[in-house]
Amino acid sequence: MERLDKILSNLGYGTRKEIKQVVRKGFVEVNGEIVKDSGMQVDPEEDKISINGEEIYYRKYIYLMMNKPVGVVSATFDNKDETVIDLLEIDHQVFNPFPVGRLDKDTVGLLFLTNDGELNHRLISPKWKVDKVYYAKINARVTDKDVKRFKEGITLDDGYVCKEAILEILSTSDEESEVKITIQEGKFHQVKRMFEAVNKKVTYLKRIEFGTIKLDEDLEEGEYRELTEEEIAILKGF
Ligand code: URA
Repeated sequence: MERLDKILSNLGYGTRKEIKQVVRKGFVEVNGEIVKDSGMQVDPEEDKISINGEEIYYRKYIYLMMNKPVGVVSATFDNKDETVIDLLEIDHQVFNPFPVGRLDKDTVGLLFLTNDGELNHRLISPKWKVDKVYYAKINARVTDKDVKRFKEGITLDDGYVCKEAILEILSTSDEESEVKITIQEGKFHQVKRMFEAVNKKVTYLKRIEFGTIKLDEDLEEGEYRELTEEEIAILKGF
């Protein structure tokens, strides 16, 4: 049970003071009855609350999939740059979601956002071995030797030895290669640093899959949608 005004203000319907007035004026119904006390206890999962005749849709958690564009940071707040949260509609911002892990400012592609801290923790913890798949362009020829080194474990500039990474060469030439890389970790700038360790540079990076869920191809960069029940169940299964 929770206070009616708290539920409504958490859902973005105004401050508690504003809600008190709306309730006083008789605009709010609980289970079909007009209520006058904004401090009354309600069960948001069970009781039907409506404002001005319109039933509100209560839920505690939201789960979103975004195709992150270039130039936007994976944070909830930034002094200088636009954040992924700025790209959300207010109806989603009121849930206070945060990005699940980080993509660099110049990386594009699949980013989950949620306010479910437990799921977030599971998805980013190396313990659960969740695959993250990236498509990358590299400024040089990628060879079978690189594939082998990625499999054995690349040593990064700070001495950290990466876990096995699956590198797949999609096309290659002296000037540019296209690859697919699967990792289960999420160290800072990991993919870029792995290629730096073999003296190559990532010129384009896009996350295309996270925990068997593929980026929805209908989403343009900067667009997002809610995850389906099925997708949420898959992620919770990790
Ligand atoms: N690896 C990187 O280097 N950058 C990202 O954004 C994600 C993985």
